[in-house]
Amino acid sequence: MLDLGRQFAQIREEVLAAIERVCASQHFILGTEVEALEREVAEFVGTSEAVGCASGTDALWLALLAVDVRPGDSVITTAFSFFASASAIVRAGARPVLLDVDPHTLNLDPAQVEAHLRTGKSTQLRALLPVHLYGQCADMDALEKLAREFQLTMVEDAAQAIGARWRDRRAGSLSAAAAFSFYPTKNLSAYGDAGLVTTNDPEFAAHMRRLHAHGSPRRYVHEELGWNCRLDAIQAAVLRVKLPHVEKWNQQRRDRAATYDRLLTQSGLASGRASDPIRPLGISSHAHHVYHQYVVRAQRREDLRQFLADRKIGTEIYYPIPIHLQPAFAYLGYREGDLPESERAAREVLALPMFPELTDDEQQWVVENIADFYS
Ligand SMILES: Cc1ncc(COP(=O)(O)O)c(C=O)c1O
Repeated sequence: MLDLGRQFAQIREEVLAAIERVCASQHFILGTEVEALEREVAEFVGTSEAVGCASGTDALWLALLAVDVRPGDSVITTAFSFFASASAIVRAGARPVLLDVDPHTLNLDPAQVEAHLRTGKSTQLRALLPVHLYGQCADMDALEKLAREFQLTMVEDAAQAIGARWRDRRAGSLSAAAAFSFYPTKNLSAYGDAGLVTTNDPEFAAHMRRLHAHGSPRRYVHEELGWNCRLDAIQAAVLRVKLPHVEKWNQQRRDRAATYDRLLTQSGLASGRASDPIRPLGISSHAHHVYHQYVVRAQRREDLRQFLADRKIGTEIYYPIPIHLQPAFAYLGYREGDLPESERAAREVLALPMFPELTDDEQQWVVENIADFYS
């Protein structure tokens, strides 16, 4: 599914030198490495500010607090994402309003958002939190328009989308504040947990810097309740080695995705018909997709997955349970059938092996085995 060792082999010397540099400094929390990473990521994304933190989950929480989401508010997000997209809303004291996805891209469906907003069902709506799922930006034109009309602040969950673009703007620069994750499987990944928020608002950035140090502007003075979720210098140093490679690695992912598209079409598995055993997801014409994952809908998915596992081909299901049906969110009162596209996606999606160093032969092997299964 993913072989991180191949990437490490390319950058081993640089990574070890960076870690050595931090060890020599004995400065492990925040400091010059973190500040340099923040500047470099802000420049890459196209924002004036970036604030490093301990994980993508913390980044979401910080971003929501920075844009002033408060207890009692509601925040709209997608039901089809990693749990943290919604749990961070609860951590910020607010209520997640989970809406359905566009079946083409599996990103938050602006038509569903609009329908919800026009009914005026939710009270104290404060923010709109789209997720750029699998590395493809949500439909930001439509969502921005709705955010403007209904005076909602936009916060991006860009955890899976570093380097992705909507038209000519990068994910992370499309909203008031955006959360990135550098979890080890991500397109830009740390050697442990790490995250970051981008924003163009210096006050938001200053607020987040206080929040990630227990709400403390000065040592042992706590003006509000924050948390300890700072970025450590070793992770920042590793990320600084990798950041200059991200564009190239993302392009390699795009090439790998094009190869899957071609092989799946040539094999007759995916011909664009609804009855195909394999149906790759759709791509918006305005999105520059960075393929954090290459995801298809598969008939008889569980059997296919086992068949591939028996041949040592790893696959994953992102995500087998939509957020509105997670036990932890039972209190929100959603029922099965409420968000049919998210539920259908949860039954059908399968992520195939995807990383920049994947070879043509390996992809051929994956597709041949999928074809064997359906033959
Ligand atoms: C869409 C999405 N949001 C949030 C997160 C949370 O990031 P982290 O695992 O770094 O806390 C992840 C990563 O797992 C994610 O994929």
